[in-house]
Formats: sequence, C-alpha cells, structure tokens
Amino acid sequence: MENNVSDRLFKQFSLLVYEQCGINLHEGKKALLQARLNKRLRLTGIDSYEKYFQIITSGANPGEFVNFLDSISTNLTYFFRESQHFDFLDQVALPDLIAKKLKDRDLRIRIWSAGCSTGEEPYSLAMCVLAHLPEVARWDFRILATDISTRVLETATRGIYSEEKIQKVPPALRQANFQKMSNKNGKPDFQIAPHIKRTVTFHRLNFKESYPFKGPFDFIFCRNVMIYFDKKTQEELVNRIAGFLSPGGYFFVGHSESLTGLVHKLSYVRPAIYRN
Ligand SMILES: C[S@@+](CC[C@H](N)C(=O)[O-])C[C@H]1O[C@@H](n2cnc3c(N)ncnc32)[C@H](O)[C@@H]1O
Repeated sequence: MENNVSDRLFKQFSLLVYEQCGINLHEGKKALLQARLNKRLRLTGIDSYEKYFQIITSGANPGEFVNFLDSISTNLTYFFRESQHFDFLDQVALPDLIAKKLKDRDLRIRIWSAGCSTGEEPYSLAMCVLAHLPEVARWDFRILATDISTRVLETATRGIYSEEKIQKVPPALRQANFQKMSNKNGKPDFQIAPHIKRTVTFHRLNFKESYPFKGPFDFIFCRNVMIYFDKKTQEELVNRIAGFLSPGGYFFVGHSESLTGLVHKLSYVRPAIYRN
C-alpha cells in the first residue's frame, strides 16, 4: 500500500469533499485525510489512493462513497454540550414558547438538530423540553435529527451510551430518562428511555442536497458543524436553514462559531444564539 497522498491527489480529494459536503480540507488536514484513507484502503482491500479516488468518483460504488464521507467527518459531541444553551432554553426560550403555544392553543413544538452526530444533542434537547411541558401527553412534540454520516446515525438510533458518556447529564434527568442495562464487559450501559426516544426521528441528510421537509421549526440547533465549512458555504447554509425557522424561532450555533461577517436576516440574541 502507498503511504503518501501526492499534493495533486490531495487537491482532488479536498475539492471532492468541498463540493459534496462543504467541508474545507485545507493543506493542514492532509495528515488527517491520509489516516482516514489508510483505514478505508485497509478495509476495502483497494491498494492505491488513486484507485480509491476513481472508485468513489465513478459512481461504481455509491456505498463506499458514503463510507468515505463518514470517515472524514468529525463527530465529537456530548450530552448537554455548551450548557449556556440549555440554561437559555430552561430560563427563557422554553417558558416563552410554552406560554405562547398555550395562548394560541397550538400545542405543536418542532426542533431540528442539524448535524446531530451520535444523538447526544437531540436527546439532551428532548430531556430538556419534556421536563418543561405541562401535561406532556397533550403536546405534539418532535425533534428531527439529521446528519450526513450513516455511522453516527446508527449509534444515535440505538440510543445506548456508556456510563462515562452520560456523566454530563444532570442527575435528575439521568435518573428519569435512561434505563440501565448490562454489557459484555460487566460494566453497565444506559439506554435512552422510550418516552425520550419516540420524540426523536433520525434521518440522513447532507446539507448540500435538497431538504425533504418543510418545517417550520421553533428551534434549530446547528452547532459545531459550520466550523468545518468556508465562509461561502456557511452563509449559504445559514440562509437556507433560517428559511425553516418559525417566526420568532431561535437558531443556535456552537460557541466557537459565529455569524459575524455573514449576510443573513437573523437577529443576534446572545453569544451563539440568533432569532428569526
Ligand atoms: C462535531 S459534530 C457536532 C455534533 C453536535 N451538533 C454537537 O454540537 O455536539 C459535526 C457533525 O456534522 C456532520 N456534518 C458534517 N458535514 C455535514 C454535511 N455536509 N451535512 C450534514 N451533516 C454534516 C458530521 O457528520 C458530524 O456528525
């Protein structure tokens, strides 16, 4: 097997990744691309980067193309990540939304977790919202959770997490929303309880492709996703996504991201929170 991706081939791979999913693989990412490619070559038995590139671009093996995209996306996430967002939901956004919905007699709440990775974000949102809803059964509450990677979506759909992974969940929510189960190593795993799971629907969605739903969503979370995109792709994405927000709906981005310098119609609320 080769062990160096040539500069020419690196450019071809990065252009492909950029065109297909908006991710910006700049020169500094060459080692990362190479490591991920080595893994795919080992698993597929393909013996050169060049051949691998031809296979995924020829359309001959669309499954391997999805595996390739899976392997280059970064999926780090955890429960209740960026707690300021959950504090804002608890203290401001949810009490206001629920009061308005009750006043309008419209008990429908929709949230989109765009770039949901292995599910920690949408499940945290579900726990947070359900803890606020008076008479839960009366509400029509759903979360749409999407990601480009089929691998992370499988984990998300299973909804089983190690004890270590659920440490960030506040104790009362942990107690109420997970079921303990044993695993092969004798350590417990924790499964998302059915009342949480049924509020979340997972779908594969590449932001660069068409969106097969209409919205509108009361809240959209697109956190720690745009960081991998260049400004042009970020601006396109924000404007597309903003079109799916309900009037007054909130848009959340990661705290290391910001919409500064992008042209969009949303108003700034506080760091990493915008409003339609
Ligand atoms: C770092 S994770 C963020 C997870 C979660 N939102 C959070 O903040 O913890 C970024 C996710 O964006 C997804 N992603 C990257 N490019 C994408 C694209 N073009 N379309 C959809 N999802 C994409 C990746 O697969 C990955 O799971």
